[in-house]
Amino acid sequence: MTPRRSDALVFYGATGDLAKKKIFPALYALARRDQLGMPVIGVARSGWTLEQFRAHARQCLEYHGVVDDQLFAKLAARLRYVEGDYTDPATFTALKQALGSAQRPLHYLAIPPAMFQAVARGLGASGCGHNARIVVEKPFGRDLASARALNATLHQVFEEKDIFRIDHYLGKESVQNLLLFRFANTFLEPIWNRHYVESVQITMAERFGMEGRGRFYEEAGAIRDVMQNHMLQVVGFLAMEPPDLEHPEGIRDEQVKVFRKIRPLTPDCLVRGQFRGYRTEDNVAPDSTVETFAALRLYLDSWRWEGVPFLIRAGKCLATTATLVIVSLTRPPLMTLPRGETNYVRFHLSPGVTIAIGARVKKPGEELVSEPTELQVTQCPTADAMTPYERLLGDALDGDAVLFAREDSVEAAWAVVDGILGDVVPAFEYEPGSWGPAEAAGLAEDIGGWRAPAE
Ligand code: BG6
Repeated sequence: MTPRRSDALVFYGATGDLAKKKIFPALYALARRDQLGMPVIGVARSGWTLEQFRAHARQCLEYHGVVDDQLFAKLAARLRYVEGDYTDPATFTALKQALGSAQRPLHYLAIPPAMFQAVARGLGASGCGHNARIVVEKPFGRDLASARALNATLHQVFEEKDIFRIDHYLGKESVQNLLLFRFANTFLEPIWNRHYVESVQITMAERFGMEGRGRFYEEAGAIRDVMQNHMLQVVGFLAMEPPDLEHPEGIRDEQVKVFRKIRPLTPDCLVRGQFRGYRTEDNVAPDSTVETFAALRLYLDSWRWEGVPFLIRAGKCLATTATLVIVSLTRPPLMTLPRGETNYVRFHLSPGVTIAIGARVKKPGEELVSEPTELQVTQCPTADAMTPYERLLGDALDGDAVLFAREDSVEAAWAVVDGILGDVVPAFEYEPGSWGPAEAAGLAEDIGGWRAPAE
């Protein structure tokens, strides 16, 4: 019988950036928990021996901190290496051999999307895709049409239940908390709708710039890199109807319904920006018009959310690194309070997890006047907390797809952004370390402006 848990893990792009930053640390963490009882086969075209590959794995881990020798030895013993080009059938013949008697391999494509089709074909033709699962990284396609084509290619070899489209935001505790907090608290659940919510805003700010990813960014830009996926997943968790948690597809069913209800975006809802200096980054065109910042305003045509603006901004080289959600509630009657100052729920998604409620209390003293305050819960991650990649890799090995993007939701998310991809509006230059181009302020003027994460 085919085992439920995958009995081999193959990852493509084994010498690449994603492997260094996310996959090796996740493998190390799985080894620490004794959950890596299978061969781990790296595939790449580097001309390395297995020993060089192991040394590379160690270096990648050391980049993240101290490495325990015993634990590393455990991981290293699992590692195998297959050299080859993804378009060459010989690569997959070698892989088949390396897979040996494995019956349920998991193939992880940590490679540029342009290579997905070649690998899927190679896996199909060689038989390595038989009974297998596949993990694909975002961005899944470049637009709606290419996402559909990619889905069709993957489906030639894999059933939908065996395809795991990673969006690591779904693996974040803080993002899952949005859903829990909304529905588990009686003081919030009844007011989470257009009657009491005035606006929602999400900021995903990153202080750093390209860090060597200029080539990728030239292909992607901020909308493809984080809006179509991470930011819309956050909107999904903020806006969905109560999911049927007893049904394995309960959450994903509600997620896709949200995406289908978002009015497709048009250029008038968008401001694009590019930080000064982007054009001199490695592998970036000197006249590039790719956006490193995007701000947009969207609406959901649904019973619950009709008329409530959702604003999202995300960018590189901004003033700080933080992801923040502010849900502004309507103001109490007859009190002339500044808009947005209180009566909000603030979710600080990273770094750290904070949920706060902006409220007013009586100011101590003789007068009956109020002052703003915040009721706050902060959760500090424990030392053994799982990273999103560790969590998601473990889930994929187990065949649990709840926290992965389903075909219909990926396509629905592309349908939302399809009309704002490319140079539909100019990319305004902004200063590194700022909050993006001044033009973005106009989108949020009527809701009291963008809220910056607390320093
Ligand atoms: C990745 C994007 O998916 O997410 C990066 O490609 C971005 O550009 C990263 O920096 C952000 O992830 P996190 O978990 O650090 O918020």
